[in-house]
Amino acid sequence: MRTIWLVLAGLAVPAAAGAQDAALVARGENVYVAQKCSVCHSVAGKGNQKGPLDDVGVRLSAEEIRLWMVDPVTMTAKTKAVRKPPMKAYAHIPKEELDALVAYMQSLKKK
Ligand code: HEC
Repeated sequence: MRTIWLVLAGLAVPAAAGAQDAALVARGENVYVAQKCSVCHSVAGKGNQKGPLDDVGVRLSAEEIRLWMVDPVTMTAKTKAVRKPPMKAYAHIPKEELDALVAYMQSLKKK
């Protein structure tokens, strides 16, 4: 009987972590909508087709994505991005929203 509980407890931990990630990603998607990122970007064909983000989770690290949010001027210079209007900084949004946004961007892995 005791063994069964230990096995169940072991199973519950990864399941809870997955649910937490999913919640963070969902929150990030809400922030993406609220901040109107789709004026300049698209996900799954919705939004501005000039800035698709569908595979950004494969191409960029979490740190690079975060830098695009807080210091797009540096990232624009670094990547020699030429598209206009350039991205503006989202450094003013609350840290939890920024974290959620980065998690959402990281979840975008298809081309
Ligand atoms: C005014 C237009 C504009 C808005 C609004 C905007 N961006 Fe951007 N963003 C850009 C441009 C321009 C680039 C440079 C890359 C390019 O040319 O697409 C960029 C780059 C990025 C990149 C790196 C993309 C890559 O392919 O390497 C990410 C990630 C990103 N933006 C996320 C966001 C998110 C999330 C929001 C909303 C919080 C947002 N952007 C709002 C214009 C915008």
